[in-house]
Amino acid sequence: MELLKETIQQEGRVLGEGVLKVDKFLTHQIDPVLMQKIGEEFKELFQNEGVTKIVTIESSGIAPAVFAGLSMGVPVIFARKAKSLTLNDELLTTTVYSFTKQVSSDISISNQFLEQGDKVLIIDDFLANGQAALGLADLCQQAGADVAGIGIVIEKSFQNGRDLLIQKGYRVESLARIASLHEGVIEFIEEE
Ligand code: G4P
Ligand code: NA
Ligand code: NA
Repeated sequence: MELLKETIQQEGRVLGEGVLKVDKFLTHQIDPVLMQKIGEEFKELFQNEGVTKIVTIESSGIAPAVFAGLSMGVPVIFARKAKSLTLNDELLTTTVYSFTKQVSSDISISNQFLEQGDKVLIIDDFLANGQAALGLADLCQQAGADVAGIGIVIEKSFQNGRDLLIQKGYRVESLARIASLHEGVIEFIEEE
């Protein structure tokens, strides 16, 4: 997605350790005009998959997921990282390990929002090692829902997440694919 790549070049900053800071438009301050176009792009890509729900994870996945939900006309559910205070909810829970942060954390979704027969589009802001997306897919599986695909705003293609998800049989569509962040320079994978 050209506009996204331009915005990443203009507003993104490379931190050490292969981390891209995009807090000017995605992970802290949000550019709603760009986010709306991101939502439309996800609709274009996944409109023939029969998607009934979108699932993401708090916090930075929520903005692109909501705009995708708006474009596609389906509800958006975000997995929570802390246990909900309402104890009467039946929670689907799984553990996600972050290689970046070197911590495991539980994520959960109330089982009232996902059911057998749902076709879920998983959306997230970043794809690095793929563990968040795998955790979300596990929650869908626990609910008996199918994963229709995985939509990513920014893929760090120099990490192994994409390969892992493809290997598991998922359709992965990333709106920007970063080949390298070497020496502070952002290089994208050239698509046909
Ligand atoms: P993985 O799910 O692909 O395995 O990723 P990883 O554990 O490496 O990422 C942990 C967190 O860091 C995730 O956010 C992820 O979105 C974010 N992240 C990964 N790479 C980058 C990057 O280059 N830049 C930025 N800005 N974020 C990155 P989180 O901590 O779970 O949550 P939140 O920030 O959405 O609240
Ligand atoms: Na995220
Ligand atoms: Na994030």
